[in-house]
Amino acid sequence: MKKKIFLFLFAILMLFQFFPVDRNNPEIGGDLRADKDVSSIFRKSCYDCHSNETKWPFYSYIFPFSVLVSNHVTEGREELNFSEWENLSDRKKGKKSKEIIEEIETGEMPPMYYSIIHRNTKLTKQEFLRLKEWALKYESDSLKESD
Ligand code: HEC
Repeated sequence: MKKKIFLFLFAILMLFQFFPVDRNNPEIGGDLRADKDVSSIFRKSCYDCHSNETKWPFYSYIFPFSVLVSNHVTEGREELNFSEWENLSDRKKGKKSKEIIEEIETGEMPPMYYSIIHRNTKLTKQEFLRLKEWALKYESDSLKESD
């Protein structure tokens, strides 16, 4: 009897593998233009969730992680999408760059689970300082009215 229940649950789980999950990479509208070292930091640590160049990991093909990863990427792109960065207004760039520094400084980004699975995506002190320097050029824009 126990075995039957187990098989039943297993069959359900297998069926869920066919649950449709969005793993698309839309077209790149205006990729961030920055010095090479800066963009390579973002590419390494942030692009999987904040760009249209997501490298979908193997676990994104396995239910239930598939749903979690897909939702995370959708939400991540909504908040910040480096593939559309150059289409933002100066004010928006100012605001977003400030948020980026805050999120890294407080250790919120990249999310902990992600940096555990994907080694070396957590930023080093030096990388953080380099991004801070990058964000400076937008600083005066962020002082304008927020939206
Ligand atoms: C594994 C996916 C993932 C990675 C990698 C990731 N983020 Fe995020 N990020 C998210 C999600 C999901 C949200 C929206 C929900 C939230 O705020 O937690 C978000 C939100 C943000 C926000 C908006 C925060 C706010 O005010 O709500 C910023 C800024 C940000 N991320 C910056 C970064 C930076 C910079 C990196 C790289 C150092 C990075 N993220 C890496 C998933 C990710």
